[in-house]
Amino acid sequence: MPRTSYFNRVAVSKDPLLFTAGDLPKIERLRQRLGDLTGCRVLEPGCGAGPLTEHLSQWVGPEGHVMAFDSSPGMVGRCSARLKHARNILVREGSVEDWDAAQGAWDLILLFRVFPHFQDQPAVLERLRSFLAPSGRLVICHLDGSAGLNAQHAGYEAAVQRDRLPGRAEMWAMLESAGYEVLDGLDEDGDYFFSARWGLHA
Ligand SMILES: C[S@@+](CC[C@H](N)C(=O)[O-])C[C@H]1O[C@@H](n2cnc3c(N)ncnc32)[C@H](O)[C@@H]1O
Repeated sequence: MPRTSYFNRVAVSKDPLLFTAGDLPKIERLRQRLGDLTGCRVLEPGCGAGPLTEHLSQWVGPEGHVMAFDSSPGMVGRCSARLKHARNILVREGSVEDWDAAQGAWDLILLFRVFPHFQDQPAVLERLRSFLAPSGRLVICHLDGSAGLNAQHAGYEAAVQRDRLPGRAEMWAMLESAGYEVLDGLDEDGDYFFSARWGLHA
């Protein structure tokens, strides 16, 4: 898969997408938006080298649990090596399309900087809904808005050049069609944040 080999190469590069100092205020903003996660069970598909996984581990605390996975073996290796001391994280290799998570078990499913890379985005949303606990939330977020991110992708290698983050109206409609109720939907310069839960008629 060209996309997997692309991310395998990113994983061993000098910049495996870890956070810069400039990203940290946005991570704090994300923490505030997510609210108190103490004790939560969090599923993080497409964790990469685990820049956010590390924060999630702290936010859920010792009573919580983070299951992080990625389809790139290189990213999984890098993430596992970086976070091997955290006792509340499990890092595994796998694709969201065939990941076999416990159904109805997750308080939060966090799609952080990964959604554009899914080939069948509506199908992934539908699939993930069944993994959420009845009171659970799905959050899709990026540190850039869709216009900026899609422009960036256009300048990358062919493997990811066409990977696209839907704009606000499109994402909102996609979530509703997949059976979610949208709680928040932001898509602005430097900010993308959607939060959703099981819809009433799902
Ligand atoms: C742009 S990177 C971001 C990684 C991490 N979330 C971060 O913010 O640093 C996207 C990651 O998603 C992974 N990925 C892409 N498609 C995937 C899929 N279908 N299932 C699981 N992981 C996937 C890639 O291997 C890559 O590590």
